[in-house]
Amino acid sequence: MPGATIISSGRYLPGKPVSNHDLARIMDTSDAWIRQRTGIAQRHYASQGEGVSDLALPAVQAALEQAEISPEEIDYIIFGTMTPEHIFPGSGALLGLKLGIPGVPALDIRQQCAAIPFALELADALIATGSARTVLIVGAEAHAGFMPYAWDVLLGESDRGLTPAERALATQHRGMAVLFGDGAGALIVRACNEPGRGLLASANHSDGRGHGYLLVPAGLFTRRHYWKMREEEQIPTMKGKELFKSAVTLLPEVVKEVCRKAKVSIDEIDWFIAHQANDRINSAVREALGVPEDKVPSNIARYGNTSSATIPILFDELWREGKLKRGDLVCFLGLGAGLNWGAVLMRL
Ligand code: COA
Repeated sequence: MPGATIISSGRYLPGKPVSNHDLARIMDTSDAWIRQRTGIAQRHYASQGEGVSDLALPAVQAALEQAEISPEEIDYIIFGTMTPEHIFPGSGALLGLKLGIPGVPALDIRQQCAAIPFALELADALIATGSARTVLIVGAEAHAGFMPYAWDVLLGESDRGLTPAERALATQHRGMAVLFGDGAGALIVRACNEPGRGLLASANHSDGRGHGYLLVPAGLFTRRHYWKMREEEQIPTMKGKELFKSAVTLLPEVVKEVCRKAKVSIDEIDWFIAHQANDRINSAVREALGVPEDKVPSNIARYGNTSSATIPILFDELWREGKLKRGDLVCFLGLGAGLNWGAVLMRL
């Protein structure tokens, strides 16, 4: 059976970057606190009215251009996001429309920061069964919508003073809010008929016991008159320490699991393209696996945690810089809300 491999990629980051110093103007935080705890220096935010399918479009166009293929060649769209335009319907069909390919099947997947390992496994299965020849995978996020910020003050659009209530609300959610940024990444996946190349193995997991570690507490359709829920219940809450502990224990295990499945040793892997949640998490995973620093690239300083988009954005940077090459053995790994986590091994 043919294994699937990535043939091209693209990325898009909206607007101008917003630095830690900018955030410190609207809440009680500091550049030093954010950098030391996470490695993040700045992030981008989607503008008012800009949804995830808008962010995805230029990323996909860049990937199509690089592969020298037209949108009509896409047989399937897999769209990962935790910040869709609507509660329903999903963003995949909207992206298909914007690409000019209505009718192409589009799956919206809800694995949050672990979307890409799940999407790669799914794309490989679609290709192996003959359901698709070319699969478009997208990770795109517009977290800006849930940030409890005085946007006009943050973006310098107004010189009015911040009210104490605005500062207090942003400060209340600072542990979660400073981490996230917006952006989109796209991967185009196709069958690869060369033996030894393509997706070698995948190991993905979901465990509802960690459901409460990162969620939007508003209960949606568990409630009658769900639209009457309290405003602040729509702001996500996060148990940072629980997520941190889960990531540093589950990610090394899942990397070992996927290596056992593929019968390769950790030393043989050229690159670990890890979800960018926090530099300290990725350092701990790297140390647990005994992997040298240069095999675990990071770009979190520039973008923050863009959830489902971190892996394709990082892939695209390394691919276009010529660092990642055909034939390299790459491990994609990530953990996100759900909990969902996984790792995929692919020989490019
Ligand atoms: N700026 C300044 N101070 C902050 C702050 C911020 N942005 N956020 C929290 N603090 C304060 C807390 O209020 C607390 O103050 P206190 O000691 O007076 O109570 C102190 O800093 C320590 O907070 P704590 O939450 O214990 O910090 P931490 O060391 O656990 O680091 C995270 C917090 C969020 C950086 C860390 O837990 C983490 O990275 N977790 C993983 C999160 C993640 O990856 N989420 C996405 C999953 S895909």
